[in-house]
Amino acid sequence: MRWIAALGAVVLGATLIQAPGPAFAETPASAPSASAAPTPPAVTVYGHYRTPWKNDLRIYRVLSDDTVIPLSREQWKAAGSPGVDVLPVTYARTSWSTQVYALITWPNSDGDRAVDKVATLTSASLKTIGSPRGRTVGHVPTTRYFRYQSGPQDLYARTPDGATHKLTTAERRAAGSPRGSSVVGGGWYRAAWSPVVRFVRPDGSHRTVTAAEYRRAGRPHVARPPTVFAKTAWSPVVYGLVTWPTSPSDRSVDTVAALTKAEFDRAGRPRTTLRHRIPGDSFVRLSTGPTVFHRMRGVLTPVTKSQWRAAGSPKARVVAPAKPTYIRGILVVNKSHPLPSSFGNGLRPELTKAWSAMRADARKDGVSLSIISGFRSYASQQSVFAGKVRQHGRKDAERRSARPGYSEHQTGLAIDVNSISQSWGNTRAGKWVAANAHRYGFIVRYPRGKESITGYRWEPWHLRYVGAPTATHLKKTGLTLDQYLGVTSRY
Ligand code: DAL
Ligand code: ZN
Repeated sequence: MRWIAALGAVVLGATLIQAPGPAFAETPASAPSASAAPTPPAVTVYGHYRTPWKNDLRIYRVLSDDTVIPLSREQWKAAGSPGVDVLPVTYARTSWSTQVYALITWPNSDGDRAVDKVATLTSASLKTIGSPRGRTVGHVPTTRYFRYQSGPQDLYARTPDGATHKLTTAERRAAGSPRGSSVVGGGWYRAAWSPVVRFVRPDGSHRTVTAAEYRRAGRPHVARPPTVFAKTAWSPVVYGLVTWPTSPSDRSVDTVAALTKAEFDRAGRPRTTLRHRIPGDSFVRLSTGPTVFHRMRGVLTPVTKSQWRAAGSPKARVVAPAKPTYIRGILVVNKSHPLPSSFGNGLRPELTKAWSAMRADARKDGVSLSIISGFRSYASQQSVFAGKVRQHGRKDAERRSARPGYSEHQTGLAIDVNSISQSWGNTRAGKWVAANAHRYGFIVRYPRGKESITGYRWEPWHLRYVGAPTATHLKKTGLTLDQYLGVTSRY
């Protein structure tokens, strides 16, 4: 089986080159002295081989110590195009599957006839060699035999292609009656952040268990599933990546949970590792703009170029923005991102709560604030926009008012305060709002001098609720909401 080990080393080597790993010291701390090291036998090239299936273009170099090095055509040419022999191969299959395996015995000088490698042949590879059916055998080398500890004494085989099969008595006998190792898998589990108990079957499928069912089962011990808590560089969301214990053990992530703050607290604020990718994520570009977003279950987060590179420069698929569009959890409405006409039914409670607090504090400072326009439905925006067109003409109206379906007023998260006049921005009240609104979660959505980005003239009276952390961030950086969310605003 030495070839398998050698291939493993090659793959591992490649992984080490790609991963940002630790820096290695040039000399080990305690280097053995030269005189103490035994003289290694000279390693020579034993031969070059290719597989019989023609769609595998690699050439395998065998060294006299049985090390195997797969070469590309270029590497082989660079070595002076040495002679290449076809590998001796036999084809085999099990009685319970149509999968054909190639059994390869590496040619070597000591005449060892053991199978070194089992290749699972694809239908394309098979076609290139005339689709041999393969000899039916009871046992394919490298098959693992096992029994589930929790289940009846059935014997299972896991063939080299990863397929699992429960053996019949005849198949068991044909395989040479292997004992099979006993493996543990499945059981009762509960994630650290959740009160829900799950029953995991040995194959990894799982279901929630009701309290009554759990009592009936005699309140068995509930274990924690192996979990990694991960975070990306571009979002504060913590993900719980759960691998349900199965047999034979499969280490891939089965469940990805985006934790709320309460769930994170409940889990005991675990340490998180930085991940550039989360299972199930993707990278996309909206058809309305150039920004690349990380998308996880519909949640979009803009990523910087260096973050995207760190994620392996994945291809970003161009997608139409959803209607309504949420980015970083914020509802974005502008000239590029409209709402469905039926959207909205009044001011949102989070806005009214923040507004009350702001108005009370303003009053303490001797500033009187009032809402002059709040929620506007699609229909009411239709008449507002038509009025502006009558008053200012189409071109100017587009700089002052949103077309129906494109107004933030339809979100229930925007209000106009005190006066629809730019000169109001220079009054004491206007200045108070500009200086303090962020503390309550509001932003002046269309700031002075940003028309080329927002698509609208300065509107010191139009406040959009985004929550205090975001509002404060935007106030500090001077970014418009569009810039922060990585979107354009153009019809
Ligand atoms: N005046 C803003 C742009 C609106 O009509 O929503
Ligand atoms: Zn407004």
